[in-house]
Amino acid sequence: MTAPVIAIDGPSASGKGTVAERVARALGFHYLDSGALYRLVALAAQRGGIALDDVPGLARTAGAMQIEFREGRAWLSGEDVSEALRAEAVGVAASRVAAAPEVRACLLDRQRGFRAPPGLVADGRDMGSVVFPDAALKVFLTAGVEIRAQRRHKQLMEKGMYAKMPDVVEELRQRDDRDMKRTVAPLKHYPDAVFLDTTAISVDEAVASVLAEWRNRSGK
Ligand code: DC
Repeated sequence: MTAPVIAIDGPSASGKGTVAERVARALGFHYLDSGALYRLVALAAQRGGIALDDVPGLARTAGAMQIEFREGRAWLSGEDVSEALRAEAVGVAASRVAAAPEVRACLLDRQRGFRAPPGLVADGRDMGSVVFPDAALKVFLTAGVEIRAQRRHKQLMEKGMYAKMPDVVEELRQRDDRDMKRTVAPLKHYPDAVFLDTTAISVDEAVASVLAEWRNRSGK
């Protein structure tokens, strides 16, 4: 029997990463932050002098990059790039890179390779729709753009990165737009995914809600 997957999809700064990681920890499952893969392609391309519109170059980069995830950190060619990956510019570049079907195709097998017993929690935009269509539980986790912008703004300030609130809102809107309107694997609430709006609930409540849904389905 293949290992079960819990797929958590949603827009930027919805809190899906935090929720997915905590659900994985609670269940002793593996965790895949698929956005980090797109960010790694963007960073590797930037370092290799590959332009964001050079799709064959980006696809080659996605196929050849040497990456590793260990103890919640990400390595590119043996270098810990965890902090570099979180930069806003890398997120924006990742969203552009992710619009290329050739890049997405190159990352498919890598993503599926994370599936291992006792199970996997994967977060992203197309975990339940494309990468793991047979996921045992699919969640679409979202929150209003204002609250997401507040969360992102707080994160940036904590990291010492100054940003104006209206700019953060505008940037999130543009990113949502690009992620939802692209032709391949767009971000979308599919009818087979449980809808979870975290605008008015805490991370603890969101985690509890996903775990309850999982226990309900798996009977564990
Ligand atoms: O979740 P994130 O902000 O780290 O993702 C960075 C970008 O990667 C995001 O703008 C869209 C893209 N992405 C994607 O297209 N598909 C995924 N499964 C995960 C991320």
